[in-house]
Amino acid sequence: MTISTTHPTAAESGTFAVGGDLVVNRLGFGAMRVTGPGIWGAPADPSRARATLALVPELGVNYIDTADSYGPFVSEDLTREVLHPYPGLVIATKGGLTRHGPNKWLPVGRPEYLRQCVLMSMRRLGVDRIDLWQLHRIDARVPRDEQFSAIAEMQKDGLIRHVGLSEVNVEEIEAAQRYFTVATVQNQYNLVDRKSEAVLDYCERQNIGFIPWFPLAAGKLSEPGSVLSAAAKRLNATPSQVALAWTLKRSKVMLPIPGTSSPEHLRENVAAATIELSDEEFDALDGAGKLVGE
Ligand SMILES: NC(=O)c1ccc[n+]([C@@H]2O[C@H](COP(=O)([O-])OP(=O)(O)OC[C@H]3O[C@@H](n4cnc5c(N)ncnc54)[C@H](OP(=O)(O)O)[C@@H]3O)[C@@H](O)[C@H]2O)c1
Repeated sequence: MTISTTHPTAAESGTFAVGGDLVVNRLGFGAMRVTGPGIWGAPADPSRARATLALVPELGVNYIDTADSYGPFVSEDLTREVLHPYPGLVIATKGGLTRHGPNKWLPVGRPEYLRQCVLMSMRRLGVDRIDLWQLHRIDARVPRDEQFSAIAEMQKDGLIRHVGLSEVNVEEIEAAQRYFTVATVQNQYNLVDRKSEAVLDYCERQNIGFIPWFPLAAGKLSEPGSVLSAAAKRLNATPSQVALAWTLKRSKVMLPIPGTSSPEHLRENVAAATIELSDEEFDALDGAGKLVGE
């Protein structure tokens, strides 16, 4: 697939050094949507999913977020099929969630299972070490220190380069930091869902990458009539683009990973990197988003 040389690239979102040494363009790609309904099984249109993945690096996106549980395995397998050996790309994956059907996610944090997750992700992705491995959820039924200790061990053994957490609060990040350096935190966050503001502020102070999942509220922020419609009209952009531009401006540690299985949506999302909101525009959206979320 070729693209016009004038198409904006993710480089325009600026860079962030994950763990201090893996430099990525801040606007990344979430590979959860290249699977079937309920993130279960194969995508409805595999060739479109492959075309989307192939377009990712062409648009300057150089970090991809996946997980063993997406499909399960479908997203990691397709990522490998299309993009291995990942020249210039950072592949982040996750483990610690089991799947029992569409939209069913159950955490398992026993140390021996977490180690299997990492070893199997390495095999599926075809890598000797995972760039960024994220604990998808802390399992409440397993002492968290056991989970953190298993992860620290895997990092020491060279299976993982950097470690991230997902859906955590500040106290949990601090508890994990007694075992390893937390490179990233991936929490649900977007213009109208601000429950993780305190975590984001903490990440900013600690220079931890903050990966907001659901940056488009699964497309809800893209719909006509959304809180973003008027601003989008003024800026000659789409609501999705404004949602992403707002996210990028919110913090220099913000690493959004909009997910799509559509090359058209991917192009649209990447072009958001070129939108510069004024401080006034940012504040107006910020206030409106908070009101919607209340
Ligand atoms: N850590 C966690 O627990 C967790 C949980 C969920 C997700 N994630 C990660 O976060 C990533 C993003 O989350 P997400 O996929 O749930 O939410 P999202 O990025 O907010 O929304 C994705 C949805 O929006 C649609 N979409 C994307 N671009 C669009 C555009 N330009 N215009 C209109 N619709 C658009 C997509 O449909 P089309 O395919 O039709 O474009 C898809 O259904 C995932 O891919 C995954 O890597 C992490």
